[in-house]
Amino acid sequence: MEFNAPATENLFDRAKLVGKSTPRIDGPLKVSGAAPYAAERHDVIAGQAYGWIVGAAIAKGRIRSMELGDARRAPGVIAIVAATEHEPVGTSPYNHAPLFGGRDIAHYHQAIAVVVAETFEQARAAASLIRTQYDAADGVHDLARVKGAAKIGTGFSGESMKDTLGDFDGAFGGAAVKIDATYTTPDEAHAMMEPFATIAAWEGDKLTVWTSNQMINWGKRALASILGIEADNVRVDSPYIGGGFGGKLFIRADAVMAALGAKAAKRPVKIAMQRPLMFNNSTHRPATIQRVRLGAGSDGRITAIAHECWSANITGEDGEHGTLQTPKLYTGANRLTASYVSQIDLPEGNAMRAPGEAPGHMALEVAMDELAEQAGIDPVELRILNDAHGVVPGDPETKISDRHLARCLKEGADRFGWSERKAQPGQARNGRWLTGMGVAAGYRAGPTAKSAARVSLSADGTLKVETDMTDIGTGSYTIIAQTAAEIMGLPLDSVTVELGDSNFPVSSGSGGQWGAASSTAGVYAACVNLRRMIGEKLGFDGDAADFQGGRATLDGQGWQITEAGALSADGEMTYGDFKSDYDVGTYAAHFAEVRVDAFTGEVHITRMLAVCDAGRILNPLSARSQVIGGMVMAAGATLMEDLHVDKRFGFFANHDLAGYEVPVHADIPHQECIFLDTLDPIVSPMKAKGVGELGICGPNAAVANAVYNATGVRVREYPITVDKYL
Ligand code: MOS
Repeated sequence: MEFNAPATENLFDRAKLVGKSTPRIDGPLKVSGAAPYAAERHDVIAGQAYGWIVGAAIAKGRIRSMELGDARRAPGVIAIVAATEHEPVGTSPYNHAPLFGGRDIAHYHQAIAVVVAETFEQARAAASLIRTQYDAADGVHDLARVKGAAKIGTGFSGESMKDTLGDFDGAFGGAAVKIDATYTTPDEAHAMMEPFATIAAWEGDKLTVWTSNQMINWGKRALASILGIEADNVRVDSPYIGGGFGGKLFIRADAVMAALGAKAAKRPVKIAMQRPLMFNNSTHRPATIQRVRLGAGSDGRITAIAHECWSANITGEDGEHGTLQTPKLYTGANRLTASYVSQIDLPEGNAMRAPGEAPGHMALEVAMDELAEQAGIDPVELRILNDAHGVVPGDPETKISDRHLARCLKEGADRFGWSERKAQPGQARNGRWLTGMGVAAGYRAGPTAKSAARVSLSADGTLKVETDMTDIGTGSYTIIAQTAAEIMGLPLDSVTVELGDSNFPVSSGSGGQWGAASSTAGVYAACVNLRRMIGEKLGFDGDAADFQGGRATLDGQGWQITEAGALSADGEMTYGDFKSDYDVGTYAAHFAEVRVDAFTGEVHITRMLAVCDAGRILNPLSARSQVIGGMVMAAGATLMEDLHVDKRFGFFANHDLAGYEVPVHADIPHQECIFLDTLDPIVSPMKAKGVGELGICGPNAAVANAVYNATGVRVREYPITVDKYL
């Protein structure tokens, strides 16, 4: 049931805390090393043994035998759970590939055993003594080879990923200006700093996992389903997360193998997954092949727009839908968008930061740059000219909640000094450096999901917030504290926030950039209920009263809220729950400036700017961190990131942080992020949307366009490495 919220304009439009830049309340704990991450929970349970996961050495086939004797006799070994002696575990809707699948091997580095020993070193040494024989089967590991067998994909809500409108072929055929280009993006890894890590402990038939996970309730249900136990018997606790990027949306083998190991060892078991296992054992962003066709009049107005995307996954379902943003950005009466998926024998592909849209922009927004050049129109102008404001093209029934893309582009162009850009590529040179600028538009969906919280007021005037929401390094602790303090009229430092425990009310969790808007709306609902309870106790209308400085006032009367005594209230907000009658999106204009060494081809990004339209920004400081983090990740996608598929043996060859290169903030000397002062009246009572993934939608293309502007060489096969354009 939707929460009956009182008018929020008053509460937030004169907000003292919400919307203000606020340093992270968990920051000191984190930077001092005192925040206990999953593998560091020595405080929670005694007698932890150590687990080491053994991964399969083939990409497909079956285990013939495992010789376990030497490992069992090795020093310190307590238990071994091996695929030849244990039934495959169950499945869950959240995992596509088996997390422990018995003798059948679906992908390289699938978990085939866990060795539990007194020390980490003993577990690792014993694991090296296991001798496994396989009957390897043939597999296909190359997207280009399986592409022909693709079928139309389905989206997040089960919708078909193919849409047509008008007569694309006819309109494209007759267009005055045409682009027909194919782009490829590679498989990519989340490469988060904190590995998958879990401590598992059984108490009778009750299991607790202290782990690192973005979606506590999904994790609890998945573990129950995988292990064949009641969800009520599973507790998941994940208060601190050292990065997820979508890789920790789902329970992985660390949690499952720690639970199985703990059962066998009759001891709590800790597993921090070894880095070289992570890339093939867990999930990745699937590679794409994308074809974009744009047809326009000589005035640059798009008449025909087609975007097709091919990707593949181990199950043949759930592809990387690179077309998601296309209908949300541009008009055009004749249209085709389609995302096709085929089966491939590689590790599981799954959500990675802005799944679909992040690589989708790398095709669409570069094709737009190509169209601008061909039509002789400035790329900023071209985007404004074809802006799909008002309705979703081809879907006039769906209204757009709030959208200011053209403003982002205009303000960004002014701020960035876009007028300095040379339209002719390869013309700007400063000594050995070729310089260039690029622009791209950005879209990322901004849904909200059901989210609940509990707030408890103590007699001393402090307030505790409890919700199973997670903070994946994003600032959830802080925006939740800001929200609760704002609504209850308390100073920020009298609010404590406890997150990530499945014993707390079920939140939206952190994913798809829905966390900030959803979880704060749930906290808002709980606080409104608490205000009503306080009002009932003290005899006033909690909705009408003004709460400030620990006091409630109404009609000239005042009350100290602690006079109501200790009180606790739950609340839940169901705004939309991922769906609404409106298209709720976030929009951005991204700009990049690069210099390319004319002799070596080395690319430096000198400046980046994002202008974001994402409704109320709850905490501009942490939101900016999210956006510029996304921009760095986007730059990595354009210039560096690439999981190399060994197409003979079916695995990612560069499976560690030395071989899988990512950029850091220090690689980009100047990054700026501007938030438009927009409010989305539809999305939530906070009028806020997420920005955590908007930051990776578009800067990738802006960098690619800047490299083209600098060099005059268009590389359509990402990443743009030196070998491809020299
Ligand atoms: Mo995001 S890929 O939904 O964590």
